[in-house]
Amino acid sequence: MDLSFILNHLGEERGEYFNAVAPPVMQSTNFCFPTVAEMREGLTKEFETPFYTRGYNPTVGILRKKIAALEGAEDALIFGSGSAAIAAAVMSVVKAGDHAICVGKPYSWTNALLNDYLSKYGVKATMIDGTSIENFEKAIIPDTKLIYLESPNSLTFEMQDIAAVCALAKKKNITVICDNSYSSPLSQSPIALGADIVVHSASKYLNGHSDIVAGVLCASKERIDSLFAKEFMTLGAIISPHDAWLMIRGLRTLELRVDRSSESAQKVAEYLEKHPKIDKIFYPFLPSDPQYALAKKQMKRGGGLLSIVIKAEKTEQVERFCDNLKRFLLACSWGSYESLAFPLCALKGSQSYDKPLPWNLVRLYIGLEDADLLIADLDQALAKV
Ligand SMILES: Cc1ncc(COP(=O)(O)O)c(C=O)c1O
Repeated sequence: MDLSFILNHLGEERGEYFNAVAPPVMQSTNFCFPTVAEMREGLTKEFETPFYTRGYNPTVGILRKKIAALEGAEDALIFGSGSAAIAAAVMSVVKAGDHAICVGKPYSWTNALLNDYLSKYGVKATMIDGTSIENFEKAIIPDTKLIYLESPNSLTFEMQDIAAVCALAKKKNITVICDNSYSSPLSQSPIALGADIVVHSASKYLNGHSDIVAGVLCASKERIDSLFAKEFMTLGAIISPHDAWLMIRGLRTLELRVDRSSESAQKVAEYLEKHPKIDKIFYPFLPSDPQYALAKKQMKRGGGLLSIVIKAEKTEQVERFCDNLKRFLLACSWGSYESLAFPLCALKGSQSYDKPLPWNLVRLYIGLEDADLLIADLDQALAKV
């Protein structure tokens, strides 16, 4: 199925709503039936027909089809946040007594889920450096049921060889979940590489307008059917019809936004790599990156995120750089239209990662502004360090 069809038409049965070009926001909690027999029939298909919006809503239904097609999955579920999608995915795989392997430095609330929250239900997790397949081999024990990947992660962009990890997991009957938020479905396809479940923070590229928090989960029909009846309906962390509609609208320009953000980020990364005030740069699509070969093997291009370590002796120098940026907003998150800067020195506590991150690291998200203007802005702010 071609990308433009998915983004512009898939799932949109226009004849069912007055041939409106844009779908309606089906802002209704429940849906009624003319007869008891039809109501009974509706209840047997709560998953795919309008009955009660926690289960199925027609606006969300359109979005589900588009998201599944984008990831090359049989089906998808949409959640009220990326963290909700991740929690449902993980909880669908593990039970008391099970062991999970997770790559080091995942998104902070994924780390909290696996290391703090699930321990009270008797699930153990081992965090590993996922850059080498041997580390996965060594960490597997008879109780291992889950391998959790985030490739690349969203701060220092370490990658895992997704195909190699999935091949190993298949041999051992272990389920692989991959957070694909960094790349978007346009730049990396974990399911094609063997992953069982793909999750995204849809608050990032998929929506792309910094106006909703949402998550998606993609998998086989069998897995989604089971997840729907258990974690999805029980936890009830759904997206609202209005937010689903906003995401459908955001998706119309997914290709344009991801192309622009990636191209500009590459240009900015190449500029910053040579800058005398930069000690180190993290960007998977620079030939100097230690995992460049793997990046080229499994991703089509780099994303809009990159991190820099500024040559500085004091926090104030990093603060001066950030405070002088005119075209970057100081904010968390990423994946939308606006360029952002997130300095690690803004975090109060220490990082709970296996290796501490440099205090003078600043993560930049390159949005849709003109790349040359962003470079000029970075240049003037670096001059003030
Ligand atoms: C890589 C990654 N995964 C998951 C999440 C969680 O998504 P959400 O904020 O939509 O709950 C984030 C949020 O920043 C993220 O960066």
